[in-house]
This record gives sequence, structure tokens and C-alpha cells, in this order.
Amino acid sequence: MKKILIIGGGAMGSAFTFPCIDNKNEVTITEPYNKTFIKNLSSKKKYHSSLKINLPNKLKYKKYSTDILKNKYDLVVVALSLSGINFISEEFKKSNIKSPILILTKGLKYEKKKQKIFTISEDIKKTNKNINVSVLKGPCLAKELSNKKQTSVIVANKNIKTAKKICNMITTKYYLTETSKDVIGVEICSSIKNIYSMIIGAGDSLNMSSSLFKKSINEMIYITKYFKGKIETALGLAGVGDLYVSAAGGRNSKMGSYLGQGYTFKNAKRKFMPNETVEGEQLAREIAPFVIKKIQQKKIPLMTKLIKSIINNKKLILN
Ligand SMILES: NC(=O)c1ccc[n+]([C@@H]2O[C@H](COP(=O)([O-])OP(=O)(O)OC[C@H]3O[C@@H](n4cnc5c(N)ncnc54)[C@H](O)[C@@H]3O)[C@@H](O)[C@H]2O)c1
Repeated sequence: MKKILIIGGGAMGSAFTFPCIDNKNEVTITEPYNKTFIKNLSSKKKYHSSLKINLPNKLKYKKYSTDILKNKYDLVVVALSLSGINFISEEFKKSNIKSPILILTKGLKYEKKKQKIFTISEDIKKTNKNINVSVLKGPCLAKELSNKKQTSVIVANKNIKTAKKICNMITTKYYLTETSKDVIGVEICSSIKNIYSMIIGAGDSLNMSSSLFKKSINEMIYITKYFKGKIETALGLAGVGDLYVSAAGGRNSKMGSYLGQGYTFKNAKRKFMPNETVEGEQLAREIAPFVIKKIQQKKIPLMTKLIKSIINNKKLILN
């Protein structure tokens, strides 16, 4: 039995408790930010309002404090959204964390000063030099995982033994894991698929979306190679696998469909999705200065068009 701490009681962090508990670990969840999730997790039945399910009986809940991070765990899982990464990075520094970390968060950061894109694991390492960080990505709808539907994900660490150790802690009959050494490829693919699922969603027919799907894969391969990741990663669970699930249904492809109908981003957001976070939009704004300046437009025409349409709030024209 291993001791696992999950930071983030949103949909993903909470869904992740199921395989961890089914694999007979001692699992504690904590939530540093959102009052609704704190209420959910501290209630007797642990009914989760986004997942619409009771979380496992054996799950322990602890109020968040920096001191929790000073305890020794076999694994500390970060399931916060991208906006919580600066916070947790500082918290890791303050607590001088020693436990191994696993990042579920998807996204990238742009540093204006250095004009460089950082993955989340790189970003956390900037403030915490000796930290042991692995990443877990792949096609996973939190609701499906919490209903124990078969889900396959990939765990990446340059040290493959560490990745395998993590897989041993979390794999179940319904939660299948692969390992990879290609940390950068896995992080890049799992982030940019949010932009490409918007693009695929913008197709006006299945025929057009399929054509955009194929072109998106080509661009994902180009970008993955640009950042020194591997082609097979782009064609694997973190790339094409995750792209499929996001394009088939999700907030990014829904926003893409409104852009495809001729709405500008702001109008579509205001009219149809005022309270929903569109991760692809956030990423597009974050990486826009880098992509537009540093990557040749002709190599990634779809991404360039999508980013420009969002930042300039102009209609998206893909042909
Ligand atoms: N790796 C995977 O298999 C996988 C699968 C699905 C989603 N995800 C990723 O997991 C992350 C969380 O997704 P979710 O569906 O649980 O989202 P959610 O909205 O349900 O939960 C968001 C979590 O982030 C926290 N948070 C938000 N803003 C914060 C801030 N400023 N400071 C501190 N904490 C903050 C919230 O309190 C909550 O714990 C996303 O990055 C998503 O892409 C990963």
C-alpha cells in the first residue's frame, strides 16, 4: 500500500482517486482554491458536483495547507488547472517538498523575457531544481474515468524506472498505462491538441472535419519535432489519442463549431459559453507571441489562423 496525495479536487483530481484507491493505495485529496470542491470533498458522502458521483468511501480529505507537503508521500499528484501552477510551484518551494510529483495538468507557459515556451514540468523545475517530476497525459474524460470506463494514459519521465513505478501504483483493469521517456513530446502534444480540437470542430461537415483532422496531425507532428519531441508521441495517446476525444466532444470543439459558423471568439463566448473555460483559447493567447514570431506560418497554417482569429477577435477562415 502506497501513500498518495492528490492536490486538486476538481473533476480530474477527484476522478483520479478511483484507480488509486482500487489499486489499494492510501489516498488523500486536498483542494487549495475552490469552495464548491472543498464543500463536496469534506461532506460525509463526498458527492462530487461536477462528476455527479460519490467519491470512494476510503478516500481521505485533508484541508489544504503548505504543511501537508512536508509529509512524506510515495506520490503527490497535481490536478490543478493551468492557472494553479504558479501557486503550487511556490508551495513546493516553500515546503521544500521531497516526495515524487506527478502532473496531470495540461498546458504550456510562455516566458516573455526569455521569449521561450516552457512545459509545466520545466516551469515547476525552474523554482524547484531537484524536484522529481513525472507527467501523466492522454485521452481521459474525468466523468468516464469516475464511472470506471476503460481509459488509457501515458506516464512520462526521462528515467523510465520512475515512470514504471508510478504505473504500478495506479494501473487497474480499467485504467491502463503506458510509459515514455519523451517528457517534452508528451507535454507538448497534450497541450496543443486543445487548439487542434477547436480547429477540427470548426469544420462545417464531417468530411471537412476529417480533412482538418488529418492536417492537424501533420501540424502536431511538426510542432512536436520542433520542440525535440518524438513523432511516435504525436501519434500516440498524448497526441492523436487525446485529439480524438477532444474533437469528438468537449468545450474546445464546441467553441470551434461556433467559430466555424462565423462567430468571432468574443461573440461566441458571450452568447453560448459565458461560464465555461475553453482551454484551447487560453493556450492560444499564451503561446501566440512565440508561435507568430518564431514558427514559420506555412509549416503550421491552421494553428496560425486559429491563434490570429482569437487574439484579433476576427472571423476564422480556414480555407
Ligand atoms: N492528464 C489527464 O489524464 C487529464 C485528463 C483530463 C483533464 N486533465 C487536466 O487536468 C486539469 C484540471 O482539469 P479539471 O477537469 O479537473 O478542471 P476543474 O475545473 O474541474 O478543476 C480545476 C482545479 O484547478 C484548481 N484551480 C483553478 N484555478 C486555480 C488557481 N488560480 N489557483 C489554484 N488552484 C486553481 C481548482 O480549484 C480545481 O482544483 C486541466 O489542466 C486538464 O486539462 C488532465
